[in-house]
Amino acid sequence: MKLRKFIPMAALLLSGVVFSSGELYAQVKKKEKSCSKKESCAKSCSKTADYGKPSDVKANDGAFKLIPLKYDYNAVDSYIDAQTMFVHFSKHYVGYLNNLNKAVEGKPQAGQSIEQVLKGLDMSNATLRNNAGGYYNHNMYFDVISPNGGGQPTGALAEAINRDFGSFENFKKLFSEAGAKRFGSGWAWLVVKDGKLQVGSTANQDNPLMPGMEISGQPILGMDVWEHAYYLKYQNKRGDYVANFFNVIDWNRVAELYKEAK
Ligand SMILES: [Fe+2]
Repeated sequence: MKLRKFIPMAALLLSGVVFSSGELYAQVKKKEKSCSKKESCAKSCSKTADYGKPSDVKANDGAFKLIPLKYDYNAVDSYIDAQTMFVHFSKHYVGYLNNLNKAVEGKPQAGQSIEQVLKGLDMSNATLRNNAGGYYNHNMYFDVISPNGGGQPTGALAEAINRDFGSFENFKKLFSEAGAKRFGSGWAWLVVKDGKLQVGSTANQDNPLMPGMEISGQPILGMDVWEHAYYLKYQNKRGDYVANFFNVIDWNRVAELYKEAK
C-alpha cells in the first residue's frame, strides 16, 4: 500500500471508529477526493495573481477614455470568476474602446459624449454601432457590479419597481427572462422611459439609447449575456449566470442612476 493511502487509513483506525473494509475504503477515497479538490483550487486560485491589477490595463489614446474597474478581478469570484472578469475587462472592453476611438478619429463624434454618439447613430454604420455600443454597455455593466452587491433596492427605486412591476420578485422574473431568452449575444436592460421603468433586451452591442430599438429609454441597469460574460464558469447554463448576477448588482449605484435618469 502506498504511504499516502496508508496515513489517512491509519488515522481513521486510530480514531477508534470501526468500519467494514468497504466503508473504510469509501472514507479514504472521500478524503483523497477532498484533498485533490483543494489542490486544484489552490492551483486555480494562484492563477488570479497572474492577471495583474485592473489598474495595469491601458487603452490606446483617443477621444473616449477607459473607465477604471472599481474592484479586483476576483472580487465577485463566487458568482463571476476572476478569469472571466480579467478577459472581459482587459480584452473585450478595451477592444471595443480602442476600436471606437479608431472609428471616430477626425470625425464629429470625437467631440461628442458617448450618449450623443449613440442617440445620433447611423445604424448602417456597423463599426461605430458595435463599438460605441460595446463601450457604453460595458461601462454600465462593470459599474453596476459590486462585491457588496445583491439584496434588493430601497427608497425611491424600490417604490418605482413596485409601482411599475408589481413587486421586486416580478421585476426579477421579467429581467431574468429578458436575459435568458435573448437569442444569441446581447443584453438585458432596466430603463427609465417617460418616468416609468421598463425591462427589455437588445441584440449584440445594441442598447436602448440607439434609434429604433424595441426598448428605448435611459438605461440604469445592464446585464451582459454574451457567452464571454459567463462561459468559463457556467458553460451553457446561462440561466445560472443570470440568477447569480442578482448577487452582484450594486443597487445603491442603480438607485443613483435612477435618480439621474428621472
Ligand atoms: Fe461583454
